[in-house]
Amino acid sequence: MILPIYIYGHPVLRTENAVVTPEYEGLHELIENMKETMYHTQGIGIAAPQVGVNARIVYIDVDVLAEDFPELKDVRMLLINPEITVDEDSPMVNREEGCLSVPGIHENVHRHEKIHLRWQDEQFQEHEKDIEGYLARVVQHECDHLEKTLFIDRISPIRKSLIRSKLNNMVKGNVSCNYRCKFAPNHRKR
Ligand code: NI
Repeated sequence: MILPIYIYGHPVLRTENAVVTPEYEGLHELIENMKETMYHTQGIGIAAPQVGVNARIVYIDVDVLAEDFPELKDVRMLLINPEITVDEDSPMVNREEGCLSVPGIHENVHRHEKIHLRWQDEQFQEHEKDIEGYLARVVQHECDHLEKTLFIDRISPIRKSLIRSKLNNMVKGNVSCNYRCKFAPNHRKR
């Protein structure tokens, strides 16, 4: 089932995300819905809070970028309870990002070039891997969602002030989007 995407300003994007356990009800269905929603919206990554569920689940499929980044061919990851560790001295890279929850805005974000990722799969088997390059960026962006952080929280104050009115409009639901969106509650009363 294709779910609506929760948009900047909605409190679900700023709410604590719970650790997922094997007892989590409807986990398989939620994962399938997240995948279907991400492909429908042509995203390359999605985090559960973006479909209104405060759980630590991320799905990534960067295969579509394989033309520019050959190492991304067939790269798909389901991350349950992901944890990133970084060497704080490791190099940072600046590159443009966007987000399904912040439609129409693309800004440069500094991210670590290399990360170490630990996560669980749908059977709750533990995995860990060193990841670098564009995939490391996507993983950091999606895991940020689980920490209630959006990429626009990481841009310079000047850039932020330049997109302020767009963001304010987004909170009120005034944004064009080619997928179903869920805006901040009561936005029309503001
Ligand atoms: Ni995002």
